[in-house]
Amino acid sequence: MLCLTLTGSTLEENRALVERNRTWISLAELRLDHLHPDEQKIASSFPSTVDLPVILTLRRTIDGGKCTLAEKQRLQLLYEASKGDFAYVDIEDDVKKGDLKFKDPLFEQKVDMEVSLRQRGIKIIRSYHNFECVPADIFGRISKLAAKGDIPKVAVTPNNLMDIITLFRVQQELSDVQEKIIIGMGEFGICTRILYKKCGSLLSFCSDSQAAPGHVGAQAMSTLYRADKLDEKTHIFGIIGNPVYHTASPKIHNPGFEAIRYNAVYVPFLVDSVRAFFKLAEMLQIHGFSVTVPHKRSVQPYLGRITREVKQIGSCNTVVRIQNMWKGMNTDYYGFLAPISEEIGKGAIRHALVIGAGGASRAVVWALHNHGVKVTILNRSQEHARSLASETMSNYDTLERGHLYNGAADLVVQTTSVGMGELSSMDPCPSFSFTGNEIAYELVYEPKETVFLKKAKDAGCRIVNGSQMLMEQGKLQFEAFTGYHYPHWIQADL
Ligand code: ATR
Repeated sequence: MLCLTLTGSTLEENRALVERNRTWISLAELRLDHLHPDEQKIASSFPSTVDLPVILTLRRTIDGGKCTLAEKQRLQLLYEASKGDFAYVDIEDDVKKGDLKFKDPLFEQKVDMEVSLRQRGIKIIRSYHNFECVPADIFGRISKLAAKGDIPKVAVTPNNLMDIITLFRVQQELSDVQEKIIIGMGEFGICTRILYKKCGSLLSFCSDSQAAPGHVGAQAMSTLYRADKLDEKTHIFGIIGNPVYHTASPKIHNPGFEAIRYNAVYVPFLVDSVRAFFKLAEMLQIHGFSVTVPHKRSVQPYLGRITREVKQIGSCNTVVRIQNMWKGMNTDYYGFLAPISEEIGKGAIRHALVIGAGGASRAVVWALHNHGVKVTILNRSQEHARSLASETMSNYDTLERGHLYNGAADLVVQTTSVGMGELSSMDPCPSFSFTGNEIAYELVYEPKETVFLKKAKDAGCRIVNGSQMLMEQGKLQFEAFTGYHYPHWIQADL
């Protein structure tokens, strides 16, 4: 079940949020602490105005909420609101039993809120939050919360991949606790939100407003990752990197799986330790994964087989499980060649200029070299350029001497990070000018038109942008992952 966290300041705003996200969610959580005080007083009416089950929550600031009331007043407010037709009420695990008894003008004796909720068929969620870490006693904590007869909820903060392994072990260790909610918050935790069923969690929270650290939007959870449709048979694929959430690869693979009705999901994994990831990959029976910066080299000791390209380039961007062995490939190599294969085949590219001498450049320079193209590498660091040039029998030069190559190259490839993010207004090689006869090939895919591409376009060059290579290498990964061609009718929105 996907649960939308409602953080509007009015009930009307929250109803609109439910309406907008209705097709993707099956549950909503009304966050009383986000409501305006006047609206809090009428919050009990909310569940009967929406057509899905609602969780009632009033979060304190120490648990990541906005409620600053004294504890007594907070619980009183929660009690009043809980008179509505909610499906669940969230009560923090450290709230004492005695504090949940209230004087109510309608009754002679004090009302025990827990008893009253149970009598009305409202389930209690017992929540524990930790914004620092995944505590060592997490399994014990969940058992203890469950022993009270309610639904335990633990929202903890994984700080590394070993913590993620702990969260995925919850189901193994506590399979007897039928209903539980397990959440890994923060950046590391995003894979546990998508694969919540693998953690044995009853539901996963999502929101458009990042109501909690690591929240993914309801639409992405439901239509991109299909998190609520995953089952025991779903094959898990993914991408490992650090950082990793900027990558567009989930938008290539997930729609591809769906189009050919292949029961699989492709998940981003923030990875600080490759060794830990291979452990996780065994545990989750991951079938294959893409590799991005900074792990393209460090995965290699864990691979049973590598292709010729990986050996040559020293960089692996794709790993697949083949008969219980990990095989490493490099689809950047062929992905780079695909958009210019015709010109390469005709021998129309004889001399190429490659700007940059980093990891991405290595695949490009080797691919060109292997196809008989003479390469000159222009790079800021002469040491990096010299080292790659000597391996690949290429020439190299400084970025300042780019003008010496005006008109000399059939292809100019931009492989540096200049042109994206903070460097988006920069020209990677200001000294170089296009004549208009070159093919200009940019590896940066965000933004779509970099300074480099604009300069080439203004000169009348044929242009290949970064998303073309991204797509081509992704299609090859898809084939390696599934054994099927990438569905040609899919137009991935990169
Ligand atoms: P990737 O794997 O994406 O290629 P990388 O291995 O870090 O990343 O390589 C980055 C490339 O961008 C290098 O060629 C780097 O130049 P140096 O070898 O001199 O470091 C280049 N680069 C990064 N920032 C740059 C900048 N501000 N100006 C010029 N070149 C830059």
